[in-house]
Amino acid sequence: MELLPVPPLEELRARQSAKWRSHPDDVLPLPVAEMDFDLAPPVSAALREAVDRSDTGYSAAVPALGDALAGFAGDRWGWEVDPAAVTAVVEVGVAVVELLRLLARPGDSVVICPPVYAPFFGWVPEARARIHEVPLVDGRLDLAGLERAFATHPAAFLLCNPHNPVGRVHDRDELAEVVRLARVYGVTVVSDEIHGPLVLPGATFTPILTVPGAAEVAVSVQSASKGWNIAGLKCGSVVTASAAMAALVDRFPPDTQWRVGHLGVIANVAAYTQGGAWLDRLLATLHDRRALLGALLREQMPQVSWRPPEATFLAWLDCSSLGDGDTPREMFLEKARVAVEPGLRFGAAGSGHVRLNFATSAEILKAAVTRMAATVT
Ligand SMILES: Cc1ncc(COP(=O)(O)O)c(C=O)c1O
Repeated sequence: MELLPVPPLEELRARQSAKWRSHPDDVLPLPVAEMDFDLAPPVSAALREAVDRSDTGYSAAVPALGDALAGFAGDRWGWEVDPAAVTAVVEVGVAVVELLRLLARPGDSVVICPPVYAPFFGWVPEARARIHEVPLVDGRLDLAGLERAFATHPAAFLLCNPHNPVGRVHDRDELAEVVRLARVYGVTVVSDEIHGPLVLPGATFTPILTVPGAAEVAVSVQSASKGWNIAGLKCGSVVTASAAMAALVDRFPPDTQWRVGHLGVIANVAAYTQGGAWLDRLLATLHDRRALLGALLREQMPQVSWRPPEATFLAWLDCSSLGDGDTPREMFLEKARVAVEPGLRFGAAGSGHVRLNFATSAEILKAAVTRMAATVT
């Protein structure tokens, strides 16, 4: 399969998004989860057509978004989604906070599994709940630890499926156990599945709602924003599969629908309905970059260890032999002029780690690792 090209660095530097505006020009930016590939042609065409017809008003996601997501989920994952059970939201973050607000009374706890996507540490207190950490063990869910946590009756479990930053694709058996525990202890599972489309060759994504018994206790939050690099357009989806979970979404603030990005809906629909072939090329390209990164680290930075991710374009690098806390990140930024995410943002378990975004060209990846390696030898 033909791999996706990446525009030259000068062109990338003209982008005005966070990745390209957060550092001076001598820094290679590999932190925030934006990709350097050009947009999928069906997505850019849909956006261009919308602009050409001055179609930039408020969004009207029903029924297009639900139909599109249901079609994609059925084809790709064998997951039967009821289009009427899809609710448009402005982004995954807002959806999770609204769900937690409804589930948690002030002071209730919400379980998360660090190292985990940094904003989880902000979303839980934003919903006036307390964080209950059940750290991953060897990069996997600690099912015994989750049972102990669920026995304390948290308001919810915020699951990252697949898991950012370690790239673990939780398997069906693990998720079945999560669902069993959720049912036994009466805990609602909010499953952030934004990285679902980015499961790489060799792994299989299990949407939480395909697990028997999950419908009554779990909600899935989806978006095309990571898979097709359209996070700035502001659209995601909440999916339910039971009357109980649908009742929760029905209690979202009435203005929720007006907050969704209209161009985001258009782009999500284009991605889900016409973006499959491009997504396959993306996955082949990320598969290639993951292997390249592995080879570069082996050859040039043997001090760094990692478990290649099964999903996402994010590499969780254990640099603890180079320093603890966020020392490795500071060193790479100051001496190598390479920006990566500091590990401590993902929880205490991130000490000595960095997260590197490999959704870029082979040239940029090689230059970054060569520059990083030069600071440690
Ligand atoms: C696990 C996870 N959830 C949510 C988001 C952000 O989604 P949104 O911009 O729709 O809030 C990201 C972005 O990288 C992510 O990795």
